[in-house]
Amino acid sequence: MSVIYQAYVRSFARDLAGARDRLDHLARLGVDALWLSPVHPSPNVDWGYDVADYDDVHSDYGTLADYDAFISGAREKNIDVWLDLVPNHTSDKHDWFTDRPEYYVWSKDIPNDWRSIFTGGTAWNYDAQRKRYYLHQFAPQQPDLDWWNPDVREEFDRILRSWFDRGVRGLRIDVAHGLIKDSELRDGQEYLRHRPEVHEIYAHWQEIAAEYDPKPVLMGETYVTLDQLPPYWQHLDLAQNLYFLRGSFAIDELRPNVERVMREIPANRVPVWFGSNHDHSRMATRWAGGDPDKHRAALFLILTLPGYAILYQGDEIGLEDGAVQPDRIQDIATPSRDPERTPMPWTRDGREWQDPWLPLTDTSRNVEDQDGDPESILAYTRDLIRARKAFSDESYETLDSPKGVWTYRRGDRICRLNMTAQRREGLAPWEGVID
Ligand code: NOJ
Repeated sequence: MSVIYQAYVRSFARDLAGARDRLDHLARLGVDALWLSPVHPSPNVDWGYDVADYDDVHSDYGTLADYDAFISGAREKNIDVWLDLVPNHTSDKHDWFTDRPEYYVWSKDIPNDWRSIFTGGTAWNYDAQRKRYYLHQFAPQQPDLDWWNPDVREEFDRILRSWFDRGVRGLRIDVAHGLIKDSELRDGQEYLRHRPEVHEIYAHWQEIAAEYDPKPVLMGETYVTLDQLPPYWQHLDLAQNLYFLRGSFAIDELRPNVERVMREIPANRVPVWFGSNHDHSRMATRWAGGDPDKHRAALFLILTLPGYAILYQGDEIGLEDGAVQPDRIQDIATPSRDPERTPMPWTRDGREWQDPWLPLTDTSRNVEDQDGDPESILAYTRDLIRARKAFSDESYETLDSPKGVWTYRRGDRICRLNMTAQRREGLAPWEGVID
């Protein structure tokens, strides 16, 4: 099963042409798909997650022609390109917000206790011109779309087809659990997100995806608990498991998560595992505390569990969170997510980054040094991606093992991972082996 690489374009290689130059790195790594963070025009209040035009590319990144060239460059290397689609909200600078106000969620007064994730205050903002409040789950500059409106659905049908026509082979769907709100706007955050009607949207998107061959993959950012995850497997090919990423790197926390997912996932679906993304401290820091051996254990786990694995840029070299001084912070959220968004160190001296948007402070783990070193984390990651091809199926079974060692059957192979800093059962600290 596939390995997806998540590139946060601005910090990966600045723009699409730069990203194209890095396709060799991804091909050598052996990844199958590349999920690019949003590339659309955006005022960047939330760095691309506030889209001003779904049909174009931000001039910072290039043009639609650059995007097409990027897709064909990737395809030459057998890498599929996935689009990060943001259907829950737009930017307040999107034309729709001026011309099609009925596309958004309005109320004559503040109707309920829904709260904005970014401000912590009410999720309703007063529009003095229209003399009404509009809903924003995130920043006030990110008004939520009204998915009860059939015209909104039609717009996105068209948007999906236009990107699939361009050759996009997968979607990462932002806030996939949040699109549709309670029609009565009832009190309680449970009425703001995770509504049962959201699944109809994905059932329909699957029909659109099925018009294409190969069918594009639909992956949801399903930021829900494990209890709430199963319905998303009905119509999404992949439902992200954020509670795996948020667990601490301990056998007692992660193994029950894996076992439960494997017990509950329907036979026609596979899971997806990851330990880093652009919203959470990188796993080399949060899970491994900078310890390269522990980071290797995390890579081993993610890359040997069944289904898909996602590597966030830098995971393959053990990149830690960057240091961002308060006067360099770019993020709207508190705490800032900038430490996990700092530039990718391609070289020892970081010469490829002139005046980057976030500081490049530590280049001690960089691609240049690790590239030719068979002992490097990069070489280890490449080897694991190659090794995972040997698993005969997508099954998983926990096997008995001494405390601190996680042993599991994967197809016809057995994985043993020492999840401790001590030697155990012939395994070095944090060592993983596939027998
Ligand atoms: C989830 C994205 O991953 C995050 O970066 C963004 O701020 C919110 N959705 C809002 O779009």
